[in-house]
Amino acid sequence: MSLYQHFRSNGPSGFGYGSTAEEVTAGLSLAGKTALVTGCSSGLGLETMRVLRLRGARVLGAARTGEKARAACQALGGDAVPLACELSDPASVRGCVEAVRRLGVRLDALVCNAGIMALPRAERAHGVELQLFTNHVGHFLLVTGLLEALAEDGRVVVLSSGAHRMAPREGIRFDDLGAERHYAPWVHYGQSKLANLLFAKELARRLAGTRRTANAVHPGVIQTNLGRHMPGLARRVFGLVSPLVLKSVAQGAATQTYAAVHPSLAATTGAYLADCNLAKARADADDPALARRLWEVTERLVAGLP
Ligand SMILES: NC(=O)c1ccc[n+]([C@@H]2O[C@H](COP(=O)([O-])OP(=O)(O)OC[C@H]3O[C@@H](n4cnc5c(N)ncnc54)[C@H](OP(=O)(O)O)[C@@H]3O)[C@@H](O)[C@H]2O)c1
Repeated sequence: MSLYQHFRSNGPSGFGYGSTAEEVTAGLSLAGKTALVTGCSSGLGLETMRVLRLRGARVLGAARTGEKARAACQALGGDAVPLACELSDPASVRGCVEAVRRLGVRLDALVCNAGIMALPRAERAHGVELQLFTNHVGHFLLVTGLLEALAEDGRVVVLSSGAHRMAPREGIRFDDLGAERHYAPWVHYGQSKLANLLFAKELARRLAGTRRTANAVHPGVIQTNLGRHMPGLARRVFGLVSPLVLKSVAQGAATQTYAAVHPSLAATTGAYLADCNLAKARADADDPALARRLWEVTERLVAGLP
């Protein structure tokens, strides 16, 4: 809980900056629903999974390794289903897709939450800059692999970030996906988060005419393990100001949990949400040609992966 929340009022949804994941699901019964959350081993993913389970959903928790997923699921009481899903390893993502198919479940919500931020040096997976690969390409492979398992009114929720505004001016650097020519930690984090947003919007367009939805969210700014690659001094300053100006993890998990299950959003698709309300993204996040191009480039890329 931060001091800042006392200066912010709730939006039209009735929720806002200070709302927690428990508050936005208060009174809801998710019995009979199934939700998959990636990055369940830490931060917002763990809290999202905890609250969905608290409201009665069957939860599938995906983490980099089976061991991490099992530890997170056991911490919640044991009935959550652990899944290994290392997003930078296509074989692991496909293994996760297969594991979900074997379970034979219908997914009511698929929360693409896992992510990495601001790697100090350019790293790559399969020739693609690692934040773009992990945050976008890995989730693209997972979601497109699981579309058949998505319930008729299933929801895909993709974690973007206000940091999508830091993406390059041209949006996605299609001619330098490996960041060989130029690398800047925040620009490339921003690019991956713009890709998350464009992916949700293009998916929503492709699901048009069905009751399935896809939305992107900015969770707020929260001190979690996401900052692990930030310099030590920045992390300490962040830690000091956190109680004053940052959201708590309980508040940070609210928007994605709200988007995943709240009845008022059943027909909302292709939207960008922040503080549990509709929000405005950077102008090119609404460019259908850019979103379609990213989808087609990613599709070709994953088709060529081992
Ligand atoms: N915190 C914020 O202020 C903030 C703001 C805007 C957007 N977001 C977004 O919110 C999401 C959740 O972040 P968080 O703050 O909860 O961070 P976090 O505590 O670091 O959690 C991130 C989760 O993603 C997992 N992950 C990282 N790389 C992965 C990979 N290659 N394959 C599979 N899982 C991987 C992590 O697993 P390990 O722990 O094993 O690495 C962890 O479980 C991210 O998408 C982030 O971009 C966060």
